[in-house]
Amino acid sequence: MLSYRHIYHAGNHADILKHLTVSQICRHLIKKEAPFFYLDTHAGIGQYSLNSEQAQKNKEFHSGIARLLKEENLPEPLEGLLDIVRDMNPTDTLEYYPGSPKIVDYYVRQKDKLHLCELHPNDYPLLAALFPNKRKANVVKDNGFAAVKAMLPPPQKRGFVLMDPPYEVKKDYQYVVQALEEGYKRFPQGTYAIWYPVLNRQQANELLKSVKATHIRNVLLLELCIRNTEQERGMAGSGMIIVNPPWTLEKEAKEFLPVLSKLLAEDNEADFQVTWITPE
Ligand SMILES: C[S@@+](CC[C@H](N)C(=O)[O-])C[C@H]1O[C@@H](n2cnc3c(N)ncnc32)[C@H](O)[C@@H]1O
Repeated sequence: MLSYRHIYHAGNHADILKHLTVSQICRHLIKKEAPFFYLDTHAGIGQYSLNSEQAQKNKEFHSGIARLLKEENLPEPLEGLLDIVRDMNPTDTLEYYPGSPKIVDYYVRQKDKLHLCELHPNDYPLLAALFPNKRKANVVKDNGFAAVKAMLPPPQKRGFVLMDPPYEVKKDYQYVVQALEEGYKRFPQGTYAIWYPVLNRQQANELLKSVKATHIRNVLLLELCIRNTEQERGMAGSGMIIVNPPWTLEKEAKEFLPVLSKLLAEDNEADFQVTWITPE
């Protein structure tokens, strides 16, 4: 079943947390000269037209990225993300929002390499057209969970894996943890970032429990909820599980998450977490 289309949600609060994390991991990776490998297991279409019929349906970006763009003096990591968005929108009108491949593309150097998986028959060609240079990015219509096994460890010996499944099938909660274990076994020095939705507290907690049960160490959790998590009103928030995070990320998140939870709040129960699932 592949009915999920990310364009309906592009630029919402969950994208901001995810893409901010991706941006900070890339900034850390490019501090070193050595090349790195990026695996995006669920890459989407790469960038999103916010004027499209789909993005306009619920206009989720209005209460997300559009709101942030009106602010001044944001914490530096947030300004970094906004710079990428501004770079894609040179006329100052918000028309495009970057997906995870475009965020990484903003930072990569000629020596770095991207491997982007997207299974949807309509989305794959859009992504492939955006990354025509095979030497820079390999775009494949493959199952991203299987790619974790097939592509790791990378020859570069440095790398970052983003797993951003839609969770439209409940099995994704299981697959994502299995893929993390498989990947970590092959490439323990890599950085792994897993996105998850907070639809209700219990489901999110079960995922976090399964990650803890892998006994993988050095796992940071960032979570942002924009409203009470117990109401039956869709996604109240989302989180990022980061294995081997940049050492600066915990401190940065303690600065940017309070700001985001205030700016994006939909009720007075908006909240955030910066905590270690398992310390180093
Ligand atoms: C949440 S979206 C990805 C958004 C993207 N990472 C971003 O940040 O812009 C999830 C994507 O995964 C695709 N997909 C679903 N199952 C997949 C699988 N097993 N392997 C690869 N792609 C898959 C969907 O078609 C969808 O485009």
